[in-house]
Amino acid sequence: MAKITYIEHDGKEHTIEVKTGQSVMEGAVKNNIPGIDADCGGACACATCHVYVDPAWQDKTGTASPMEESMLDFAEAVEPNSRLSCQIKVTDDLDGLIVRMPESQH
Ligand code: FES
Repeated sequence: MAKITYIEHDGKEHTIEVKTGQSVMEGAVKNNIPGIDADCGGACACATCHVYVDPAWQDKTGTASPMEESMLDFAEAVEPNSRLSCQIKVTDDLDGLIVRMPESQH
């Protein structure tokens, strides 16, 4: 389990426990947290699960794979800390992770 804080674009925070092995995207979707659409269901094929990883957590979440990088080209307002949340697997090491959602996924 890892406690993850999702912050909506308007600043609304949601802190929930996400099971190890799920993705950061699944944690949001299964708990009805708005701001992550995940149209492709986690296949790294839509870029509507875009989040900004808090800079303090970038080392632990790692870097995007080449496939994820190319999908991120379809996302709006991409920043150096942008990731596709379906590609971040939750581990115990991510306990305390903070991610922010973009203004829009489309
Ligand atoms: S859910 Fe589609 S790319 Fe992440």
